[in-house]
Amino acid sequence: RKISVLMGGLSAEREVSLSSGRNVADALRGLGHTVRCIDTGTDLLTIVRDLHDHRPDVVFNALHGRFGEDGSIQGVLDWIGIPYTHSGVRASATAMDKDAARTVFAAAGLPVATGRVMTPAELEPADPLPVPYVIKPLNEGSSVGVEIIHPGSNRRAMVAQSWSFGTHILVEEFVPGRELTVGVLEDRALTVTDITPAGNGTGFYDYQAKYAAGGSCHELPARIHPTAFAQARELALAAHRALGCRGASRTDFRYDDTTDPTGPGRLVILETNTQPGMTPTSLLPEQAAACGTDYAALCQWMIDHATC
Ligand code: DAL
Ligand code: MG
Repeated sequence: RKISVLMGGLSAEREVSLSSGRNVADALRGLGHTVRCIDTGTDLLTIVRDLHDHRPDVVFNALHGRFGEDGSIQGVLDWIGIPYTHSGVRASATAMDKDAARTVFAAAGLPVATGRVMTPAELEPADPLPVPYVIKPLNEGSSVGVEIIHPGSNRRAMVAQSWSFGTHILVEEFVPGRELTVGVLEDRALTVTDITPAGNGTGFYDYQAKYAAGGSCHELPARIHPTAFAQARELALAAHRALGCRGASRTDFRYDDTTDPTGPGRLVILETNTQPGMTPTSLLPEQAAACGTDYAALCQWMIDHATC
């Protein structure tokens, strides 16, 4: 089939997307497809003209972050009528807006961390939550802009004077314990990965820990309480459905097993990624492989489930 892979783009996750896109394109070529890569780090007219001139059977969306994961490109593809991988406009837009996603999760009865949305000016005078707490941009990925405010952190310097991620900030309770993730392929939750960031001393699964080789250790299936394991898979599926996702998604959790080490602990949904990373260190392809679907088969599954 003729496949155009959209990659790169204009978001802070551009480099991640280039890596996802190159790996996907190589795999699709290996499967015998005719593949054209489009770096969308350009104007929309150029992208649309390329799609119009080459008229692919399917678009593989390997974009992450703004314009690629937030419903923008999905709307363009709906408009011109080319089937594309992953979620459509509404699910993409809702999942990418962390505040909107929290609202949808809470309405569906799914657990989210205590939190609120504030402006940098509102955050300046006093800590809005007991320290430590977390501040996040509303619509970035790969931990870009995420900070953990510890006792003694200079909140004003970190936020009020240097916030560059839009007019609002999501302030969330810091949930101690572990970082878990669960991939979903339509109606099938894969496994649970327990992620331990390596060597940055903070335990924070930041951009470096996500993409540097050896930046983190992934244990899958996670060796956690069986109730929590089952619950994480159920919640990932429920989050995928509540948002109305299509194809693949990946839901990230905090798992607090610190208060009662023998009990099932507490799971909190951080977010659902509608465009999960497809890089060599990415979690979804690793889970799929552990469940018997190798990288190439996963890419094939994604184009088989493309729609518009
Ligand atoms: N935002 C990155 C690409 C991920 O979730 O995998
Ligand atoms: Mg993300």
